[in-house]
Amino acid sequence: MNIDKPLLEINDLHVGFRIKDDFYDAVDGVSLTLEKNEILAIVGESGCGKSTLATTIMGLHNKNNTKIEGEILYKDLNLINLNEALYNKIRGNDIGMIFQDPLASLNPLMTIGAQIDEALVYHTDYDDKQRTERVLELLAQVGIPSPERTFNQYPHELSGGMRQRVVIAIALSCKPPIIIADEPTTALDVTIQAQILDLLNQIQDETESGIIMITHDLGVVAETADRVAVMYAGQFVEIATVEELFTNPKHPYTRSLLQSIPQANQEDEDKELHVIQGTVPPLPKLPRKGCRFAPRIPWISAEEHEEDPTLHEVEEGHFVRCTCYKNFHFEEEEA
Ligand SMILES: Nc1ncnc2c1ncn2[C@@H]1O[C@H](COP(=O)(O)OP(=O)(O)OP(=O)(O)O)[C@@H](O)[C@H]1O
Ligand SMILES: [Mg+2]
Repeated sequence: MNIDKPLLEINDLHVGFRIKDDFYDAVDGVSLTLEKNEILAIVGESGCGKSTLATTIMGLHNKNNTKIEGEILYKDLNLINLNEALYNKIRGNDIGMIFQDPLASLNPLMTIGAQIDEALVYHTDYDDKQRTERVLELLAQVGIPSPERTFNQYPHELSGGMRQRVVIAIALSCKPPIIIADEPTTALDVTIQAQILDLLNQIQDETESGIIMITHDLGVVAETADRVAVMYAGQFVEIATVEELFTNPKHPYTRSLLQSIPQANQEDEDKELHVIQGTVPPLPKLPRKGCRFAPRIPWISAEEHEEDPTLHEVEEGHFVRCTCYKNFHFEEEEA
């Protein structure tokens, strides 16, 4: 039983983007907690709001074009009310972020050493020698084979996997208690992906940080996470431990995602039938009331859909935003 306060607590967060004259919620009433020592995965298709949630936690939105409401509680602060000067202190120091594309998050004109050093200059009072030692230590910690050499190299001189290790080193540089990794392996090939996931697992073991791991890949979830929140169209539709979600999924969207994982020796030609077709609609096309997923389930009638389902606990620690999941029959399950 965890009696400590969560590291991060988000309550009823709404993030609306201005499109023409109106605001549309890309994050629509999201609540979550992140505990120390936990890897929480957020999974969902492209466009469901995962990155918007991450960049909101990091305070990266332009307040003129976004409407942010709710609570992002860290220590005793609600981050959504924080001014830019305070947020600059939190970013990097308290919350580190690893972005999808390592090349885009590194400065091509600065050496690797100088880029990691920048965060230390900003957030610590280490002298030059201490900072250099810390940079070399970080490069070794993320598995860079020759830290001294890499220290003086530029991003283009490294492979994609090594660049992502550098990005992780920057995120770790100030030992933040919270790390957000937004699709940290998507741009990498499969072998390197596995190495980076191992590295994140190892970091979590060593640092006891809480990690939010954003991915569209349930394979990544199975490899790394303790708990999963499944996101659809800006809302969490199911939250459970990894084991529970994989063995006892409830929401039709979760089940569809699970069934779309490619299986070894897959011989079932009807597999496509089990997977719900379509994509997440653009924000202005989302239903503003009622179940956002309903339009993608052609075989359940309107009467069977609850008007506006809320996330409710169906078993201890297992939350589902759907009341009609019991009426659901994937063909495979009937057989
Ligand atoms: N700055 C913006 N202005 C308007 N709409 C935006 C903006 N950023 C994102 N959106 C919209 O918000 C929704 C959520 O986008 P987001 O990038 O958070 O999704 P995602 O789950 O991270 O997708 P992906 O898996 O492709 O990275 C999408 O409909 C997207 O088009
Ligand atoms: Mg994204």
